[in-house]
Amino acid sequence: MTDELFDIRGKVALVTGGTSGIGLMIARALVRRGVSTYIAGRDGAQVQETAAGLAGGGHCSGLVADLAEAEGPQRLAAQLAQREPQLHLLVNNAGANETGTIDSLSVADWDKVLNVNLRAGFFLVQQLLPQLRAAATAQDPARIINIGSIGGLHIPNWDAFPYGASKAALHHLTRALAKRLGRDHIVANAIAPGPFPSRLTDTDSAAVKKSVQTYIPLGRSGEPADIEGLVVFLASRAGAYVNGATIPLDGGYIAAL
Ligand SMILES: NC(=O)c1ccc[n+]([C@@H]2O[C@H](COP(=O)([O-])OP(=O)(O)OC[C@H]3O[C@@H](n4cnc5c(N)ncnc54)[C@H](OP(=O)(O)O)[C@@H]3O)[C@@H](O)[C@H]2O)c1
Repeated sequence: MTDELFDIRGKVALVTGGTSGIGLMIARALVRRGVSTYIAGRDGAQVQETAAGLAGGGHCSGLVADLAEAEGPQRLAAQLAQREPQLHLLVNNAGANETGTIDSLSVADWDKVLNVNLRAGFFLVQQLLPQLRAAATAQDPARIINIGSIGGLHIPNWDAFPYGASKAALHHLTRALAKRLGRDHIVANAIAPGPFPSRLTDTDSAAVKKSVQTYIPLGRSGEPADIEGLVVFLASRAGAYVNGATIPLDGGYIAAL
């Protein structure tokens, strides 16, 4: 029996940052579940190689854009619009971090983090509104999923000023989008992950392992099935009435603080 509540076959999705880490986990899950999936990254060769690898299990195409640039969202949206009249699911996942301290952080680093993590997501929504509206119905809304972070829900024990501010603002932006776009049958939610293996987070490092053991009640990092389960829920009929939520996906880290 096909479980219709969680069936997302035939939808069209765009996952920014689908070349690595959490975005790649999401893209792989969507392709496997019959979603026509577009992934985006900066490096053309890497994007094409990753998309070709995923396409073996279904339909996946790669698009190239630098979302730190002011025109990046517009360029990416134009490529998508050339190929698809409808977009059922936009996953704003691309993210960046810079490690500068309160004494050393540069304006350029601040701008890069804010532009990729916050500005790009808003303008991608704006540029893709025609395709999202075309896919949306009262019964089956179009979905926006913003990948936030537990870094936007608490203050860590290290300097992460632009990262934390960008993610807290992304959670807030998610609520604003939910309020404004509900009338268009477009819902917006954020997922706030704890540590997942990626280029940004080395879950094999001693420091991350120690932090996971100390602070996460479940005592482990996130795994691909954890992000897959929540994205499929939010993208399917099962999650159609969830709107404006920021959902921690962190093994209880935030709850236990
Ligand atoms: N992993 C974690 O522990 C964790 C925890 C909380 C939140 N998050 C969030 O999860 C999301 C994914 O991060 P990740 O951990 O999976 O990191 P990752 O492995 O470094 O992947 C980041 C992705 O974002 C893309 N990206 C970065 N800068 C970009 C730019 N200027 N233009 C376009 N694409 C860009 C990268 O693509 P290319 O480099 O190929 O261009 C890559 O696909 C981020 O929003 C991050 O803040 C991660």
